[in-house]
Amino acid sequence: MTIVNAHRHAALVEHSRQLIKDLQDPGGAYPASSDFSAYQGYCWFRDGSFIADGMSAAGEVASASAFFDWCAGVLEANRERVCQVTAAARAGQPLPDQAMLPARFQFDGRPGQDDWWDFQLDGYGAWLWAVVAHADRHRLDLARWGEAVGLTVDYLASSWERPCYDWWEEHDDKVHISTLGCVLAGLKAAAGRAVVAGERAERAQAAAQAVEAVIRRQGTADGHLVKWIGSRELDGSLSALLAPLAVVDPNSELGRGTVAALEDQLLVEGGVYRFRADTFFGGGRWPLLTCFLGLARQAQGNRQGALACLDWAGGTATPSGDLPEQVDGGLLLDRSWKQPWVDRWGPVATPLLWSHAMYLRLAAALDLVSAADQPEPVSPRPPAPSGPPQSAAMDAAPGRSLMGRGGAMAVPGSSSGVADTAAAGGGTGSGRSDQTAPSDRTAGTEAES
Ligand code: BGC
Repeated sequence: MTIVNAHRHAALVEHSRQLIKDLQDPGGAYPASSDFSAYQGYCWFRDGSFIADGMSAAGEVASASAFFDWCAGVLEANRERVCQVTAAARAGQPLPDQAMLPARFQFDGRPGQDDWWDFQLDGYGAWLWAVVAHADRHRLDLARWGEAVGLTVDYLASSWERPCYDWWEEHDDKVHISTLGCVLAGLKAAAGRAVVAGERAERAQAAAQAVEAVIRRQGTADGHLVKWIGSRELDGSLSALLAPLAVVDPNSELGRGTVAALEDQLLVEGGVYRFRADTFFGGGRWPLLTCFLGLARQAQGNRQGALACLDWAGGTATPSGDLPEQVDGGLLLDRSWKQPWVDRWGPVATPLLWSHAMYLRLAAALDLVSAADQPEPVSPRPPAPSGPPQSAAMDAAPGRSLMGRGGAMAVPGSSSGVADTAAAGGGTGSGRSDQTAPSDRTAGTEAES
């Protein structure tokens, strides 16, 4: 099998690269999506780190470096908060979830203005992994981001065992294997570097070993990785542990078992679902997850399978070349949940920068990104974004109330906010899946595959 349409593929690579560059904030932040109501004005550490990794792999050195500068500025502005978190954890009195670093920030580095499912550790692991990979890939001096790298090591080493929301901002009472995968990748990447020295390096090593042991002993069932500790289910994000995070050998029994199970249970007509009980926008298939599967297949030596993933993801583009967060394609897991989400937040996020970045990343892994793109010279790190005030930032953030944007919302982290998910036909825990009463916003149309 070859790529379905090489011209369209090349055009989509260029469109993706340009779109991400055009939408990147001058301060370095990558918006999750330019005009999707719930994401507008925000940069997630998770999305951003994978976007930067895709750009870095495509030779867009300056763009990726600017994002890592932004991350470093945010972390340095929150230095006092990180110190409080680590000191409390060492004293055996961990701070509450609300005091932890949020999953997303405004472009100027301030925390969110809206209620959100904010305590997520994976993005901090992902940034650590991605910035080291970027520095290695382009022979850059990691010292530029050294202080923030150190702070992140302290934060993760102190708190990695805590349950928190997952990649999909759900189930904050669980310890998620994809979250642990990001944390492990970040700690492993940072541990051997000169910017992480002495006792901090030992802590990073010890934490990485402990995370790895938990993944091996408690993060598997039936020969594959699982969604969270105690579950036997899968999650589409798990292929990331094989590639690009590389914390599970893609050709080991566990690596092969995980890909086989994902293909068996979550891959349908070329596209990958998040998980079988997904109800978000009805539960469609995600181009970015399909690209993650493609990366894992490529790492296993299955180039044809990886190309099939690239083809499918590329086929979800709108006529103007924009890639959505997910597609309907007549294959939603629970169609009854589509309209309530459209009513609440509008049509599916399109373009989603993370989708474009994963497309770029897979294309680069397949050597399909033009070598004509010369790395741009890296300028010295500019001044950090103004950032939040040091420790009061998260406490002062308004909007941490019962009401999310546009209607009633389960309270993040509160069991009283858990909807009757059996009746709702889907998710089984707290978080994004527990939307209760969508607002009466006007319906829109969705990008279809
Ligand atoms: C996804 C997150 C993502 C966010 C922004 C959410 O719908 O579940 O993984 O970080 O959108 O793209």
